[in-house]
Formats: sequence, C-alpha cells, structure tokens
Amino acid sequence: MNATAKKSKRKIFPARRSKAEAAVPPHLRSEVEKILITEEQLARRVKILAREIGRDFRGRETVVVSLLSGTVMFLADLIRHLNLPLRLDFIGVSSYGVGTESGDLVFTKELRIDVRNRDVLLVDDILDTGKTLSRVLPKIRALKPRRIKTCVLLDKSARRVEKIQADYVGFEIPDLFVVGYGLDYAERYRNLPFVGVLHPHIYKDIRL
Ligand code: PRP
Repeated sequence: MNATAKKSKRKIFPARRSKAEAAVPPHLRSEVEKILITEEQLARRVKILAREIGRDFRGRETVVVSLLSGTVMFLADLIRHLNLPLRLDFIGVSSYGVGTESGDLVFTKELRIDVRNRDVLLVDDILDTGKTLSRVLPKIRALKPRRIKTCVLLDKSARRVEKIQADYVGFEIPDLFVVGYGLDYAERYRNLPFVGVLHPHIYKDIRL
C-alpha cells in the first residue's frame, strides 16, 4: 500500500450515529434492512477524498475515468469538490453474473479521451472481488497514461479474489449486500441517498 492509500484509509469506518439519523424511510423498510452509511457521512467523506485527491494531483490536468453505472452519485459529488482542471470520460463495464455474484465482464463503452501521458483517476463505486478493476486497469495502462490512481467509494475487502487495492477509499465495509448512492440490485435502489443493506429475502431466491 502506498502512502496515499494509508492516508486515505484513516477514516474509513462510518462514524457513530444516532438511531434517528440512520432510520430507513418507512416505504423501504421491507426491502432495506438498515442504513450502513448515511447521506451526511457520505457527503463528509467524499469532500475529504476530493481534498486529498486535489492535493495529490495539484497542477496536473487530470482525466477522470468513471465506470458505469454505479458511480453516478459518487462521481457527481466527488468531481464537484475536486479543485482540478479535469476532463471526464466513462468506461461501460458490467458483470452479468446472477444475483450477488460477479460474473463474466462485458465492456459496453470504451474510453474516448486520449489518456496518453496524462494523469488518470479511475473511479468506481465498489471494490468487491476486484475482478472489474483487474480487467480495466491493464486496458488503461496499455494506453500509456503518465500515471493512474484508483478511487472507490466502498471497499469490501473480505470478498477479494484478485490482489488489488485502491489508492483512495471512502469506506471499508463488511461483507453485506449494499445498495443505494448509485449501487443497485437488478438496477433498482440506485437513487437512494444513503448506502443501505438489502434484506436477504429480496435476493435469496436468486442467490441459490
Ligand atoms: C459493480 C460495481 C463495480 C463492480 C465491483 O458493477 O459497480 O464496478 O461490480 O465488483 P468486483 O470488484 O467484484 O468486480 P456491476 O457490474 O454490478 O455494474 P454497475 O456498476 O452497472 O452496477
């Protein structure tokens, strides 16, 4: 782990919070078991990450490469606090696995901006098994950027099968099925403003 990763991992666990703050809205209680990371915690942490990244990339025009689609909320919040000249591009990649397991990866959109000799910040919502970043990183490295750093909102290191870690991590989380703030289950829940834990009954039939 490099110095950046160490610094960035200092405050990864959600802070203690009141019950009221962490309450799941009534209409979602049969689907979302609990809130793991509140809207306020997300906002605070994303600002801190943006400050760290801004310092490390200072003075360099940066190409932010975001993986579709789970990064949508994290990316929007991160880049509005990134005090850098930047350009934005997306890579479409999806694991068409069943239920909660990562399956084969399919690329649905390629990079359009030329990253040769440029600084790249690769953004993803969650680092889980590591299969996605392990496939995407060599693709970008082959385009000869000056340097490439990775930033993920969530790190579920308990499920890692690939030897990979991110340079910037928002929150280290336990092995729970999380949705919200961009993360989905069957394309649902991405719009929730918090990260919540999905009730197992929602996905248990598919998991079997
Ligand atoms: C999710 C997530 C990460 C990836 C992480 O993508 O957005 O890209 O899985 O898992 P891994 O570390 O086990 O590879 P998904 O394929 O579900 O697409 P999405 O972003 O559109 O939800």
